Amino acid sequence: MSATPAHGHAPASPLTARQSRALSGRLRPPGDKSISHRALIMGLLAIGQTEITGLLEGDDVLRTAEACRALGAKVERLGPGHWRVQGAGLGTLQAPRETLDFGNAGTGTRLMMGVVGGHGITASFDGDASLRKRPMRRILDPLALMGVDVVSEAEGGRLPVTLRGAADPTPIEYKTPVASAQLKSAVLLAGLNSPGRTVVIETEASRDHTEKMLAYFGAQIVSEAFGAHGRRITLEGRPTLRGRDVIVPADPSSAAFPLVAALIVPGSDVTIEGLMMNPLRIGLLDSLMEMGADITILNPRIEGGEDVADLRVKYSALTGADIPAARAPSMIDEYPILAVAAAFAKGETRMRGLHELRVKESDRLAAVSDGLNACGVANRIEGDDLIVTGSASVPGGGTVATHLDHRIAMSFLVMGLASAAPITIDDANMIATSFPTFRPAMEQLGATFG
Ligand code: S3P
Repeated sequence: MSATPAHGHAPASPLTARQSRALSGRLRPPGDKSISHRALIMGLLAIGQTEITGLLEGDDVLRTAEACRALGAKVERLGPGHWRVQGAGLGTLQAPRETLDFGNAGTGTRLMMGVVGGHGITASFDGDASLRKRPMRRILDPLALMGVDVVSEAEGGRLPVTLRGAADPTPIEYKTPVASAQLKSAVLLAGLNSPGRTVVIETEASRDHTEKMLAYFGAQIVSEAFGAHGRRITLEGRPTLRGRDVIVPADPSSAAFPLVAALIVPGSDVTIEGLMMNPLRIGLLDSLMEMGADITILNPRIEGGEDVADLRVKYSALTGADIPAARAPSMIDEYPILAVAAAFAKGETRMRGLHELRVKESDRLAAVSDGLNACGVANRIEGDDLIVTGSASVPGGGTVATHLDHRIAMSFLVMGLASAAPITIDDANMIATSFPTFRPAMEQLGATFG
């Protein structure tokens, strides 16, 4: 199931999406990627057994499972999405014998840097060409404050990186310079094995899955409001973490693709099941509803400690909207697909404050703009804003460069389901990092590829 061999990529596998009949039916997106990574990591750090159901079996998460094994956990697949982790236990991780290769996965890398940083072990981290371009300085800086030794790094704080962790990490109070759940989580995970209290302050709240899961596994952690939009998180070091069962809800970031597909393919009526509705993850829904999307929230419930619901989505005549920068942390991975929705919306959509998009699996701001240009959609970048001018009829007909970025790949395939001419992406391989069943799941709704 590996999407990328170490440091390289499989031969490119182009894919074309064509104008499709009305999409209909029900779809359950795969398990949430963020929660899947964290469930495995918590299983590694806990004493006893953690059973996970609904785990995303995408390449990114499988790399984290492999890293957990290398650090001393017993990790077994019991069935589809059903995994068991026998923890190594906080404070007693083993040094990995080989480089931890995270493939395309920024989340796995950065969270695991925190875990290793909080233990007196040495480990090397590496990944594919996309991951090697991504900034790790934001993680290395706070870890250094905690006593972690950065033994080696590539130019500019990039992978490959070797860390010598701190056996007694210094408890710190750290204000994150960017709204990043990966950064926040790395500091918290390193602080977990600190003989004191670690405090992380963020001025814009980012996704809170690490905090929730730490509490669920037995850590003492308090999250309070900080300023208008921020959080102050306080974690007591060296808790006893005990293995727990984790149910992984469906990933709203993956659901975004069938959701927008249903909005733009005329006549569509699709129900998306079991979707995580964590308020720090669903900025896209607010944005689409402001644009006139016909989305009905059905059967809201709590599952595995998260808000979950089903969504009924119908084809909608969308209009452009002004998307505020403050919403970015709650929809940070959804801008490529929002840009696709905006291409079909009447008038201009302005998406503000997208600087973090430049350091994702690709420079997503540039990749989206280039892709829109290739498909005949008027757009411009002004500073950190992307402005898209939509119309009911999108020409399509282009080939889009995905730059090893799964979300660019899926976004433009969705566009091709409703554009006048087909759209080809240069490589579909990376889709397996987060949504391995994307193609058959979309085909079952009526999408035409190939
Ligand atoms: C993630 C956080 C986000 C997001 C990524 C997953 C996480 O990154 O883009 O896909 O699971 O913590 P940042 O924290 O860097 O914004």
